[in-house]
Amino acid sequence: MRLMVKPRRYEHVLRVAELAREIAEAAALSPEEIAQAYAAGILHDIARDLPESELLRLAPPECDIDSRHPLALHGRAARTLLERWGYRDERVLAAVEDHTTGPRGGNRVAACVYIADVSEPGRGVNADIRELALNDLGAALRRSVTSKVTYLQGKGIPVHPRTLAAYHDLELTPWRPSRPSPWRP
Ligand SMILES: [Fe+2]
Repeated sequence: MRLMVKPRRYEHVLRVAELAREIAEAAALSPEEIAQAYAAGILHDIARDLPESELLRLAPPECDIDSRHPLALHGRAARTLLERWGYRDERVLAAVEDHTTGPRGGNRVAACVYIADVSEPGRGVNADIRELALNDLGAALRRSVTSKVTYLQGKGIPVHPRTLAAYHDLELTPWRPSRPSPWRP
């Protein structure tokens, strides 16, 4: 991993992995999911510094946005690379694949990585989402995906179809609070 990315990115990757694990622990996920959150955090940006031509080869565009912004492909490209290297943990692969566009299908490990990526302290933004994630993973996911979609739509910028899928999944996935809240029955 260290050899695949620029030094500054490697520091980001370590912070994402640590935070993803912390969020997973706070959400009382299983020991397996906690380990998967850390692994996916380490692996999520493995294709981020590859040239665009390589991204396009590893992850052929699915839509206009992909063709115009090949950088948007780096999650899917990372998955392809990992599969080629024999990596088989589907939950980790999905978390890596979806880390730019948003978790789908109620993948809690993917939610931890997605939120850690947007809110790790080195970014200097989204501290509120980080704090929320350590108390209520579902609420943090709703806030981050919803604000992304409404921001883009407000500016008239097309939203990636996979992000729209993640947005619609929010309604379908019953997220429970991370820690039992005394005021809830
Ligand atoms: Fe990334």
